[in-house]
Amino acid sequence: MIGIFDSGIGGLTVARAIESLLPNRSLLYFGDTARTPYGTKSAEVIIDYSLRNAEFLLENGAKLIVIGCNSASSVATNSLRAEFDVPVLEVIGPAAAKAVAVSVSGRIGIIGTRATINSGIYEQSIGSLNPDYKVFSVPCPLLVPLVEEGWTTRQETKMIIRRYLHPLKDKRIDTLILGCTHYPMLKPLIQARSGKRVTLIDSSVEVAYSLRDQLLSLPDSPEEKGIVEHRIYLSDITESARVIASTIFGRPVELLSP
Ligand code: DGL
Repeated sequence: MIGIFDSGIGGLTVARAIESLLPNRSLLYFGDTARTPYGTKSAEVIIDYSLRNAEFLLENGAKLIVIGCNSASSVATNSLRAEFDVPVLEVIGPAAAKAVAVSVSGRIGIIGTRATINSGIYEQSIGSLNPDYKVFSVPCPLLVPLVEEGWTTRQETKMIIRRYLHPLKDKRIDTLILGCTHYPMLKPLIQARSGKRVTLIDSSVEVAYSLRDQLLSLPDSPEEKGIVEHRIYLSDITESARVIASTIFGRPVELLSP
């Protein structure tokens, strides 16, 4: 059973990508909608919440943890790996690697929460892969609440995206990392604003590929036999969470209380 957590419903884009690539795997999801967003909180608080989220997943049968959240991946990965004796995958490394692989100009933009951008983790990851690449990052703190609210096509959201992407306008980037798992819900608006010459890198999809590769390369990878189950827990189940979850999966999904 693969355990995935996020601060809210954004990590469902990770769950959806994993479901598409690994349809025979059982998934257990925990979204901490009661305490979202994480990206505006201190590293200490994000680490504390992340440890509890992982504990919940492990107590409920997860054998591997995917941190379906850039903010938690940025600051809590080491703590989770130190605390738990299961593989812990994070979203930053796979997205940075993909961006370095596809960028021709070596000029990469990153948008994410304040926690992710302030951590400097994407600059470090990209710099370690190619020190000549230039990275331009912009925190976009209002986007997570807008997605959690279901405002994914609103005019107001378009205006906020325009404002956030403005500093990247003259940077001649050819690649833009969606450094938050909520942002795939805003992909059409972000792509329209960035222009079609800019390739968007989706951290949710990249971590799913990385997980698939790791499961294939593990000699003792436990193939789950029998019934495949998907359980989605949210710490606060709201009507908008229901709508967004169904939109992400393209079908009605059952939401459970922990
Ligand atoms: N989906 C989380 C991320 O990838 C959002 C964090 C938040 O709640 O601010 O960063």
